Amino acid sequence: MSAQRGPGSVTLTRLKKMKRAGEKFVCLAAYDACFAGVADKAGVEVLLVGDSLGMVLQGHDSTLPVTMNDMIYHMSCVKRGNEGALLMGDMPFMSYASESQTLQNAAALMRAGAQVVKLEGGAWIANTTRLLAERGIPVCAHMGLTPQSVNRIGGFHVQGRDTSQAQSIIEEAQLLEESGASLLLLECVPVALAKTITEMLEIPVIGIGAGPETDGQIMVLHDVLGISPITPKFVKNFLAESGAGIPGAIEAYVHAVKSRRFPAPEHCFD
Ligand code: KIV
Repeated sequence: MSAQRGPGSVTLTRLKKMKRAGEKFVCLAAYDACFAGVADKAGVEVLLVGDSLGMVLQGHDSTLPVTMNDMIYHMSCVKRGNEGALLMGDMPFMSYASESQTLQNAAALMRAGAQVVKLEGGAWIANTTRLLAERGIPVCAHMGLTPQSVNRIGGFHVQGRDTSQAQSIIEEAQLLEESGASLLLLECVPVALAKTITEMLEIPVIGIGAGPETDGQIMVLHDVLGISPITPKFVKNFLAESGAGIPGAIEAYVHAVKSRRFPAPEHCFD
């Protein structure tokens, strides 16, 4: 598939075609215009304005303090720096707790530049996913480790290691596709579980700490550059090896995903 880029060139249709063709796509969480432009030029297909900004930009120990105003501000910055990548925005903690709040907040994020909104959860976000999808707002469902639920989960742990939890994740992923989700993101799950779900679903599946078999990979910009305060097993510092500055590090990440050299076994969970 040719890598033609231009304004608005990466669409959900293109990601679906890449999945069918077995071509890996690359996603990056970034938060400002300058880095968005660098990532777009490096060939990143999806830019996520993630609520991880609460941790890497604002210095909090979780994503819970992030507000809709934060998300709208950073989305509008990223939109100004981007040309061709698909823009995805996180709905922050408690911004999709009721129907009217969900619609109002998702619309605000779309008006700021998002083309897809990401929600964390399993079966309980099925109705919300349908509500948004029916109104023309594409949804990425984020499953596995869902950082907004860190207090209920009891820490940032791998999810789906036991058979019954793995089975629930499989069933809920299927339900979310049937409810109209356009993308699924799996965070911190065993390689085999991510493989099963990726093969089962028609929608593209993005992984982080989910092994090499998902259709796309995502990393947080600060992890690619090796400057995050915490470095989980699934991240790799591409700046250390690139020798070509920040643009080179992002290009190295893109090439490593596309050529299936990242994630390597040492970045994965069994
Ligand atoms: O907020 C974020 O950046 C994310 C990614 C880590 C997937 O959700």
